[in-house]
Amino acid sequence: MVYFTKNLMKTPVLTSGIQPSGVLHIGNYFGALRQNIALGNQYGGYFFIVNYHALTSVNNREELAQYSFDVALDYLALGLDPAKANLFLQSDVPQLGELTWIFLCLTPVSLLEKGVAYKDKIANGLSPNAGLFTYPILQAADILIYGGTLVPVGQDQKQNIEICRDTAERFNRMFAPENPIFPMPEAYILEDVAVVPGLDSRKMSKSYGNTIGIFDEGSVLKKKVMSIVTDSTPLEDPKNPETDNVFAMIRLFAAPEKQEEIAAAYRAGGYGYGHAKKELLGLMNDYFGEAREKRRALAQKPDFVRDVLRDGAQNATKAAEAHMVKVREAVGLMRV
Ligand code: ADP
Ligand code: TRP
Repeated sequence: MVYFTKNLMKTPVLTSGIQPSGVLHIGNYFGALRQNIALGNQYGGYFFIVNYHALTSVNNREELAQYSFDVALDYLALGLDPAKANLFLQSDVPQLGELTWIFLCLTPVSLLEKGVAYKDKIANGLSPNAGLFTYPILQAADILIYGGTLVPVGQDQKQNIEICRDTAERFNRMFAPENPIFPMPEAYILEDVAVVPGLDSRKMSKSYGNTIGIFDEGSVLKKKVMSIVTDSTPLEDPKNPETDNVFAMIRLFAAPEKQEEIAAAYRAGGYGYGHAKKELLGLMNDYFGEAREKRRALAQKPDFVRDVLRDGAQNATKAAEAHMVKVREAVGLMRV
């Protein structure tokens, strides 16, 4: 389950962002949201919807606004307690742009040229805009502006956290060697969270169009589950649960005893992939049943959601400004 890093011995300052660049899927849930919510409800922290980052790939205003609101609904429906953790839009903290610029001025272009995520995104057809290139520096500012010490993220974010640490170290060394302004944040990566496979068995990702939305239900969900790719072993033959895509998803939703029971049925033969898919559908409906109800209720109260985001942004802005006062002073951006 959740493994705790040494850092958790003292109370961490949690910071984590999620891009509103599409409908969140169950890969995002098991890879990111679930632990963000568990940690946020325990330790508080800053959970932002990174709409500036999403601008690197979304250029439709309605879509960006809708996805941003939907991420807030998803977080709240899935259980983030806004009385404990701050949930807000990245763009509601104006100091962020200021810190990003300062950091950009100390970042060697050669560091960004090594960005794996940048290269991947270009390879996947995104246009190489300067926002995409400098994306990790905006992310570093996201973390450091709140004095973040712990960043729950998926495996794919390791390099971005390294870049953030580099930036903190460089800033402290250049401008505040006696009294470092930024703590050194650590990534919090769940080692045992497997990559959630998509319908076609590649990694589930919105860029592959192979996702199951966290809040898909009814005939939409059924159609997707029934379309999960399997091999062609005949119904009566024994099957290997370890290599099957449907079972990989069952594992995410079923209690250990239930997993064992289904694995045994696979191995015994006479249990088809159709049976397994029906089982998976039932498990998913149970797992997300309560959250779906909550989301429906919240969708009727958009002003409540907006209030949560506004309050979160107010707290975040206060924390950001406290750091920026020191940063401006340290770099020489004070009134002359
Ligand atoms: P996508 O690949 O759909 O564009 P993002 O890159 O926006 O998703 O990922 C947001 C978060 O969700 C990241 O922390 C990432 O590690 C996690 N995540 C995305 N897809 C998966 C997956 N298939 N399995 C596990 N975690 C995932
Ligand atoms: N790059 C992250 C992702 O794609 C999102 C992100 C932006 C983030 N700023 C952050 C994650 C700060 C952690 C901390 O998943």
